[in-house]
Amino acid sequence: MHVILLGPPGAGKGTQAKMLTERYGVPQISTGDILRAAVGAGTPLGREAKTYMDRGALVPDEVVIGIVRDRLAEPDCHGGYLLDGFPRTVAQAEALTRMLRDLGTRLPIVVNLDVAEGELVRRLSGRRTCQGCSEPFHVDFHPPRVEGTCDKCGGTLIQREDDREETIRRRLQVYREQTEPLIGYYQTQGRLKTVDGLGETGEIFGRISSTLEE
Ligand code: AP5
Repeated sequence: MHVILLGPPGAGKGTQAKMLTERYGVPQISTGDILRAAVGAGTPLGREAKTYMDRGALVPDEVVIGIVRDRLAEPDCHGGYLLDGFPRTVAQAEALTRMLRDLGTRLPIVVNLDVAEGELVRRLSGRRTCQGCSEPFHVDFHPPRVEGTCDKCGGTLIQREDDREETIRRRLQVYREQTEPLIGYYQTQGRLKTVDGLGETGEIFGRISSTLEE
């Protein structure tokens, strides 16, 4: 399986990516998770990335492209990959095509999760994320069994810095300006499959799986 999950902040990319990696056994490559881990570890990359992430801006292309290039070259990606949150600009998409060609890896199917903006704000403002394994929960739609604790690994659930209302609005604006053009970009290449991202998570997972197995 060679897949990109595309969609605005809060569309459910992380939620679906975790279910898809379990079903199909390919690694999830989430640039957001990689960057947050670097922020948590206080590395030079993390310190640089934090200045962009906290205000809802994109981390510079060259930084993120380097991260993905290194990750895709690892042996567990040889049989497939699931990209979550990358590419996010046309420059990143063009770099991805070049790096996959260099690696001799298949080009991806792009699954675009379609969700209305009001729903995105509701999802993001109620999200709680596991500090340990990054599993997403939601105070109303997907609460943990024990408040504040991850069902999967027992880690602590936190609200992400960028899930405050003002930063959410900024992220959605950045999405419209810089990432939405990728829909046309991949449509022109005949690689795009749009999936309705509204409904129960299991239902959406079923739609994505059928699309991929077509
Ligand atoms: P990143 O971590 O990639 O954030 P994002 O794209 O904004 O996406 P989210 O993680 O917010 O949402 P999601 O679609 O994964 O939704 P989720 O499944 O969690 O990026 C963060 C930052 O890092 C960026 O702003 C940027 O600064 C930087 N960055 C990352 N990649 C970059 C790149 N390539 N280039 C440059 N900068 C980059 O679901 C959301 C909530 O909804 C959860 O609470 C969940 O439980 C709930 N939910 C999910 N599905 C449903 C459903 N069907 N019904 C009800 N609730 C649901």
